[in-house]
Amino acid sequence: MFKKKPFFVVFEGVEGCGKSYQSQKLKKNLEKKGVNLVLTREPGGTRIAESIRRLILIDYFNRGKKENFDKYTDTLLYLAARNEHIKNKIKPALQKKKVVICDRFTDSTLAYQVYGKKVNRNFIDHIHKFILQGIKPNITFILKVSSKSSKLRLKKRRTKNRYDKFSQSFYTKAQRSFLQLARNKKNYFILNSSSNNSDLEKKIFKIVCKYLKIK
Ligand code: TMP
Repeated sequence: MFKKKPFFVVFEGVEGCGKSYQSQKLKKNLEKKGVNLVLTREPGGTRIAESIRRLILIDYFNRGKKENFDKYTDTLLYLAARNEHIKNKIKPALQKKKVVICDRFTDSTLAYQVYGKKVNRNFIDHIHKFILQGIKPNITFILKVSSKSSKLRLKKRRTKNRYDKFSQSFYTKAQRSFLQLARNKKNYFILNSSSNNSDLEKKIFKIVCKYLKIK
């Protein structure tokens, strides 16, 4: 039997790495074991945070227009969405001893805004001090994908995302940043997600079960 405890699992990686797919698979597998959980995503996860997400995405489709979000505006929007998400969804769920599975979290800000766009790290760390409320992922899965597989998956998507337009070098850089963030950290798991078989799903489930002491 599963003994209830707060547990925060995060999936990170570049677009087309299969994060959303794997988070859903993990949700299904844990629910079969009777685990009470919340599956959520960033940016988004609450009504207000989802509106902020739309705002960020709209701006991207306006690229080329004279006025676009400054990189600090963009960053503040991600952080604003995170604040809403933590306060109204993640924290309450953890307080109820639920398992929270989140598709992206703070490492995405470090990979995309800090490493990618050169936003000042102190700026982000400082705001995080006010909004994170001590919440840290118990484990993070970094899904590593080849550019070929990621491109193929993105092509199959019906709704185009702003990131489908990013250059290959941006992906490569973002992936390298995720791998660097995971380096020498015990609670990070770098897993290859290039092939489309069920091995990865099983691997992830096994790791989480070990942490949650599920037999
Ligand atoms: P996704 O939901 O398709 O993964 O798209 C979310 C996008 O938002 C993804 O390209 C990464 C980006 N992002 C940031 O740039 N910074 C952040 O802090 C987060 C959470 C996401």
